[in-house]
Amino acid sequence: MYCSESQIPMTSGSVHSSIYDYPKYYDLLFGSDWKAEFDFLQGCFRKHLKRPVRRIFEPACGTGRLLIRLATQGYEVAGNDLNRLAVDFCNDRFERHGFPRTAVVGDMTDFAVRRKFDVAFNMINTFRHLSTEAAAVAHLQCMARALRRGGMYILGIHLEPTACPPMQEESWSARRGNLVINSHMWSKGIDRTKRMEHLGLHIDVYTPTRKLRIIDHMEYRTYRKGQFLSLIRKVPEFRIAATYDFSYNISQETLMTTSTEDVVFLLERG
Ligand SMILES: C[S@@+](CC[C@H](N)C(=O)[O-])C[C@H]1O[C@@H](n2cnc3c(N)ncnc32)[C@H](O)[C@@H]1O
Repeated sequence: MYCSESQIPMTSGSVHSSIYDYPKYYDLLFGSDWKAEFDFLQGCFRKHLKRPVRRIFEPACGTGRLLIRLATQGYEVAGNDLNRLAVDFCNDRFERHGFPRTAVVGDMTDFAVRRKFDVAFNMINTFRHLSTEAAAVAHLQCMARALRRGGMYILGIHLEPTACPPMQEESWSARRGNLVINSHMWSKGIDRTKRMEHLGLHIDVYTPTRKLRIIDHMEYRTYRKGQFLSLIRKVPEFRIAATYDFSYNISQETLMTTSTEDVVFLLERG
């Protein structure tokens, strides 16, 4: 029997899971506004690196939403991530575009590279997944060993402001063809003793026949400005060369204040 589109029954359901286990949805949601970060990264290379950038590494690269764009510009790229599904997605896309499968399953607190990189980046708070000071230091030490002298680690995080209340929620939306994804993330509160922020995350995925809600939960270590500066002092190979914010305007360096929330640190490898 012929069934018109309006008669196709819509099924709906929900699942408690990590968005990182759905690389296709993650990549659409967070990959759709890649351009500002991509232009900013290349702006940093031109403005702050003394030698030409050829080799780029992304710790916790996920689906490699930025690495693939950089690869198509001629850079040699590589990354690691704990999530095998994300790494497979990343490598499959590299391969489809004719690039080697250079993402590996690995922990950003415990890895080594065969050849050093000119630049590394980690843009959207991923660093805050590292739940202890020891893990954060171990990560920065790995990064220092992975970068050549004069290289740069570009690290974007949300700081906890002390002069005003922090942002409580964020929403994103993305669409490709019939696939529509809406997401909402909100802070459930901060455990001050453990310096952990608990976040709720709902991702609603719509296709013409199905609605799926992915119910996720994240925990992020909190950093006030002073706490982050004290962390950086523990890894003397790095010095802060410049700071920007998440408007990714390369012609506008920003100064951190007690109200600052989003910062991109340019950590120079001495
Ligand atoms: C917000 S996503 C960011 C992915 C990618 N960097 C981007 O900008 O789209 C965070 C990623 O960090 C990964 N991750 C969390 N802890 C990690 C660790 N200790 N080592 C490696 N990857 C980790 C997760 O699997 C996830 O893919």
